[in-house]
Formats: sequence, structure tokens, C-alpha cells
Amino acid sequence: MDASAPTIAARNFDAEFDADGVAPALLDWYDRHARVLPWRAAPGTQAQDFGSNWPYRVWLSEVMLQQTTVAAVIPYFTEFTRRWPTIGALAAAEDGDVMAAWAGLGYYARARNLLACARAVAAAGGAFPDSEDGLRGLPGLGAYTAAAVAAIAFGRRAVVVDANVERVVSRLFAIGEPLPGARTAIRTATDTITPEARAGDFAQAMMDLGSSICVPRSPRCLLCPLSAQCRAGRSGMPEAYPVKAAKKARPERRGRAFWIERDGSVWLVRRPDKGMLGGMRALPDDGWNARADGAASPPIDGQWRSAGAVAHGFTHFSLTLELMVHSRVEGREMGADGEWWPIARIAEAGLPTVFARAAQLALADPGTREGGGRHEHR
Ligand code: ADE
Repeated sequence: MDASAPTIAARNFDAEFDADGVAPALLDWYDRHARVLPWRAAPGTQAQDFGSNWPYRVWLSEVMLQQTTVAAVIPYFTEFTRRWPTIGALAAAEDGDVMAAWAGLGYYARARNLLACARAVAAAGGAFPDSEDGLRGLPGLGAYTAAAVAAIAFGRRAVVVDANVERVVSRLFAIGEPLPGARTAIRTATDTITPEARAGDFAQAMMDLGSSICVPRSPRCLLCPLSAQCRAGRSGMPEAYPVKAAKKARPERRGRAFWIERDGSVWLVRRPDKGMLGGMRALPDDGWNARADGAASPPIDGQWRSAGAVAHGFTHFSLTLELMVHSRVEGREMGADGEWWPIARIAEAGLPTVFARAAQLALADPGTREGGGRHEHR
């Protein structure tokens, strides 16, 4: 850290800042305003008090909630816990079923880690480790998830920092260093206000505050239980925090996916386990510029035409995926690496979002639909 910058400890010992007052004010607010969520115990209670299955539900929700909104997660969480109500049931599930049920949530490596973790916990007797260190040893559990599960499922004091907490804390302490470098300072600051008791409620209260009041634009400071302590609020510029380093533009990639239709079915492949969208069912594609000459050939010969394109943002690049439809398909021999999937049941194929959207183009394409792939077009 820059030696000339004020440290968090210095800020914290600043007579004006009431670090000890933060948790009581926030927990008091949470007792009255906590969101009711399917994986959440009521304020003041601990998930583990509700039985041995709660750590499973807390863990599952936290993995799903990484980089995805609460509203998007609720239907997935409900469906997962209906199909696989316990860690043992999930551990015994078929990989393909879990990958398909995850489709649409994104970040598919998480679904593979989810299964690896479920199997590791089941193999060790079915109980999650109840400490942050023990949880850190499980597949896919990074610093955030281990801290969140330790605090929320087991009531352990742990410092839980997600994007909402980052925003709340950087405002509360007016941390001027830009992200991502400010993460260390934000973590240290969060540590100074995390209480010994009710650490799980405290973490979830911070998340609720960040999603309902301390929102990125036009925060509702008049309703905030921490307004008396908040340095950024008092400065009149809460929106200036967290300070962000200038963003680099995401590189753009272009690719083509291929719609091969025959007798009411479409040809789907299973993507290789390693790599983007690994293990997911998908339309065949050209590797999205993965080949330097950008000229990977279609999976079968014939006349192809474009049915339009979809744009999709991945973490490290944006993709424009053009959907090519085949105008005449004869025979059903396509090689061993895929399957004919009934178009009427395409929603059940578990296609990742970018391919589901590309499939929508084919379904809406008059040429494809009228001809059923049997006539020449254009
Ligand atoms: N985001 C991540 N975990 C959460 C939780 N337990 N409650 C609300 N939002 C969250």
C-alpha cells in the first residue's frame, strides 16, 4: 500500500468513526427488513438450527449467487433442491443432468465444481466442514464462499466481502483507492466492523443493504441505518465510491454456430469438458476465432446461410455468434460426437444462454421453419 495513504487502522482510530456502532445499527435494521429468501434462516436464528441439511442449502445458494442476481437464482435454487434435496442426492446425480439444470446460470465451471464438491463432502460422510479453513479445502470454495458458508450456515465469525459489501464498505470508510487494488483495504475495513456474534446475519444484512439502499446509482441514504457513520454519505458524493480503475475494453470475438435440422430434430454436440462452457450440450460451432485463420469449416458440407446473430458478453470477451442454417440435410449420419435432439423439446436440452438464444433465431426463422430443412433457400 502507498505509505502516504491513510491506512484503515488510522481511519478506524479516528475519533469520529464509530466502528463499534456499525453492527448493532445494521443488525437492528436487518431484524426489521431482512428479505425472505428460500435459503435463509430468519434473522437471529442460525441455519444449522434447522437441521443438518441447511449447510447444503446455504452452500448451494452461495455458489449460485456468485455473479448472479437473487431474482435469477431463486427458480434454480428451488428446482435444484426439489430434484436433489440433500448433498447425498446431488453427489449421486448424473453430470449431464446437473449441467443441464444449471444451464442459464452461466459460469459453467462452477457447476462442475459444485458436483466435485458435493461428491467430496458425501465421500467424507456427508457433513460440511464447519470452519472457514475446512471449507476452503473443498473444490470450488474460494475465500468468499468459504467465509459466507462459515458465517451463514455455522455462525462463525468470518469476513464476508462480495460486490455489495465492497460498495457499502468503500462508501462507509470513503476508501479512495481504486478497485481492484482497494480490495485489501476493503477487507481490512470490513474486518473492523464484523461482530463476533451474528456474523452470518451481519454478512447478509450488508448484502441486503447493498442491494436495496446502498445501490450503485442514486443510493437511498435517507433510509440508510448507517448514514450517521458513512463518510461518503456525509461528503455528499456516495456514488463516487467504490472508485474504479478505468476499464479496458473487452476484446471482441466472432463465431458461427450451425443449425442442422432433420425430421423435427436438431444436431447437438456435447462440448469438451475443458474450456468454455465445458461439458454443456451445444450447437456445433467454429471455435469462435479460436483458429487463427478464423475459417473452421462447417460440420457438414452443403449450402449454408445466415439466420442472424446474437451478441453475448462473457467475462473476458464479447462474442457475436452468427447462426448458420443448413438448407438441405440428407441422411442422419453425423458422427459420434453428438445427438439428434427433438426441436419440440429444445428447452430441455440445457443449452447455455448464448446457444439457447441462437436456437431462438432458427426457431423464428421463416426459411428454416417452413422448409423444415428440406428445401433450398435463397
Ligand atoms: N448474495 C450472495 N449471498 C447472498 C445471500 N445469502 N443473501 C442475499 N444476497 C446474497
